Amino acid sequence: MSSLRASSSNLVWVAALVVSLMALCEAQLSPNYYDKTCPQVLPTVKKATGTAIAREHRMAASLLRLHFHDCFVQGCDASILLNDAAGIVSEKNARQNFRSARGYEVIDGIKSAVEKVCPGVVSCADILAIVARDSSVYVGGPSWKVKLGRRDSTTASKDLAEQNLPIAFDDLDTLTSVFARQGLSLKDMVVLSGSHTIGLAQCATFRGRIYNETNIDAGFARMRQRRCPPTAGNGDTNLAPLDLVTPGSFDNNYYKNLLRKKGLLHSDQLLFNGGSTDATVAAYSKDQAAFFADFAAAMVKMGDISPLTGSAGEVRKVCSVVN
Ligand code: HEM
Ligand SMILES: *[C@@H]1O[C@H](CO)[C@@H](O)[C@H](O)[C@H]1NC(C)=O
Repeated sequence: MSSLRASSSNLVWVAALVVSLMALCEAQLSPNYYDKTCPQVLPTVKKATGTAIAREHRMAASLLRLHFHDCFVQGCDASILLNDAAGIVSEKNARQNFRSARGYEVIDGIKSAVEKVCPGVVSCADILAIVARDSSVYVGGPSWKVKLGRRDSTTASKDLAEQNLPIAFDDLDTLTSVFARQGLSLKDMVVLSGSHTIGLAQCATFRGRIYNETNIDAGFARMRQRRCPPTAGNGDTNLAPLDLVTPGSFDNNYYKNLLRKKGLLHSDQLLFNGGSTDATVAAYSKDQAAFFADFAAAMVKMGDISPLTGSAGEVRKVCSVVN
């Protein structure tokens, strides 16, 4: 009798342990998350991402940035993809995203391709994370194993986007706290900013720097002033490459530029301006392999910001609207 009671209480214990282990597994992202439920997800996303980048090379940069702008607002939950709707104030209209973040329709297209092979299984948040990695690889950057199992939010926050996304004019303390709020270190910030080895920026984001700053190469400033007039409202949307040397390929020229005072954004040159981050910038400028390895690790860390897992959120059918 007593041994029967002991074994049944053991059973309760084992059951409780199994349940809590399952909960633990669910709360963790894993690269194998879709192995059983959607084994085609990685090749499907890779192919569609490649098609989009072949059509427009810049798209690699735009897609990489979307994952970043997603993760810093409510975590990596695809909140950035939701359009204005009843109860939803779209992050697309936050000032850091408005007429700046791009590639939304590419993500919608990739999602439809994935829905064709595994309907209702793969989240938009995971698609953003996979696409960011594939974009890096397509333009010569590092690869990494993407952890998966994020679910999609049923909410978005324009206010939080405006609070949490960095601005090119921010000072180093502000930028540091913006990253710290996401659990990211100063070193993570330096290495993730290396994304500015690809892509373009609009005149309005670097005008103050090329006309009024002193820690800038004079010839570089003059060159950028040619297509970015000094008066606000003139040529605001004219584009310039963030990396003047190899704007289309992912490499460590971004850091080499900073050593020569040829960072395009105020926030870029801040990282090499006589402060505590100079040493990291100098190290990456000399060692592309170290940059690539640290970048890959930091992207995984960024992709881990507050995911919705288990039964939280949902798997959206269409990335721009809740189910
Ligand atoms: C350190 C703080 C950062 C600031 C202040 C910043 C700011 C900016 C600004 C102002 C632009 C140009 C947008 C435009 O003119 O429309 C830009 C572009 C870009 N940013 Fe950042 N950024 C930061 C960090 C990052 C991080 C961490 C990533 C990725 C992990 C990233 C990826 C990109 C990419 C790829 C582009 C080019 C996008 C395109 O061509 O469409 N940035 N960023
Ligand atoms: C440069 O600084 C001056 C003085 O603060 C300001 O009036 C001017 O608008 C600035 N110019 C640009 C292009 O930012």
